[in-house]
Amino acid sequence: MTPAEIAETTERLVASGAADIDAASSAEKLDEVERALLGKASPLNEIRKLMKDVAEADRPEIGKNVSAARATLEQKVADRRAALTKAARALSLVEDRLDLTIGGRGYRRGHLHPVTRIWRELEDVFVGMGYRVAEGPEVELDWYNFEALNFPPGHPARAMQDTLYVKLGEPEQVMLRTHTSPVQVRVMERQPPPIYVVALGRAFRRDTLDARHSPVFHQIECLTVDRGITLGHLLGTIEMFVHALFGPNISARFNPSYFPFTEPSAEFAMTCVFCEGEGCTVCSRTGWVELGGCGMVDPNVFRAVNIDPEEYTGFAFGFGIDRLVQLLYGVDHIKNLWDGDVRFAAQF
Ligand code: PHE
Repeated sequence: MTPAEIAETTERLVASGAADIDAASSAEKLDEVERALLGKASPLNEIRKLMKDVAEADRPEIGKNVSAARATLEQKVADRRAALTKAARALSLVEDRLDLTIGGRGYRRGHLHPVTRIWRELEDVFVGMGYRVAEGPEVELDWYNFEALNFPPGHPARAMQDTLYVKLGEPEQVMLRTHTSPVQVRVMERQPPPIYVVALGRAFRRDTLDARHSPVFHQIECLTVDRGITLGHLLGTIEMFVHALFGPNISARFNPSYFPFTEPSAEFAMTCVFCEGEGCTVCSRTGWVELGGCGMVDPNVFRAVNIDPEEYTGFAFGFGIDRLVQLLYGVDHIKNLWDGDVRFAAQF
């Protein structure tokens, strides 16, 4: 090839190379083009090899041309690379855009179940009066649930309790506790008077589910044993906690009743919180709502736990927590409390 031909070829390579560079639509394609134009096997490199056939005097000129061609193409590749990077960045700014003003999906914070809430409020009221919180097992022995509470074997009051027995040991000796009163016995067996305790927990009875009865329910038990405790202390304590929970317009009322483990015994009611005693559908127009049972600890119970009934007297009372919650929140059916439906619980 003559020097003129070489110059012409070089010029054509630069022109077609520039077109290829401009046509490269991505960084990867540009890399390919770059390799083809400037790599070892590129036509521009081939031209260098032709130099040996050229007159020595012409070589510097051709060398300069080829170098200039390389430089031109290298510059073009660099420019194109910069342009592609800039375009890719602009595109990703649009495509990967995060709208930080959009609200998150968020999650609602839960809250305590209404029964748990009242349970804790009751604990607070009694702890505030100097009581301690005691506990007992849900699966209980006959001794604690009945016998020590002055229900002798065959006592008709046992039949009132609709007991759910557990198939364990001797027949009818292990059961789901039918009330929280067995905790009274457990506490008195463990510690001498003075005793000021409340026990809250689940109790179980073979009741058919209806609006106000559930086979699983919750009770609070209060036990006070000390020297000189009288019926006046019992009435005063119940009145006190009713006021603490519901305010001064709500009071307590007592009717004579019977429990084997208290003597005398009473049932107690509180002023209906809905009509404040006027009479409404909730209280069947009586102005009162039955809460639970109470009385002075029977001397036989003291004897069963080796407390001297001549030295100590005491009172106890117990009532259903679920019932109280139903009243407070106007829950028509008790099963709504325990269905586990968050749409129900979320209303409170
Ligand atoms: N345990 C009784 C019941 O469940 C209530 C009660 C407790 C009565 C304490 C008197 C004293 O019906």
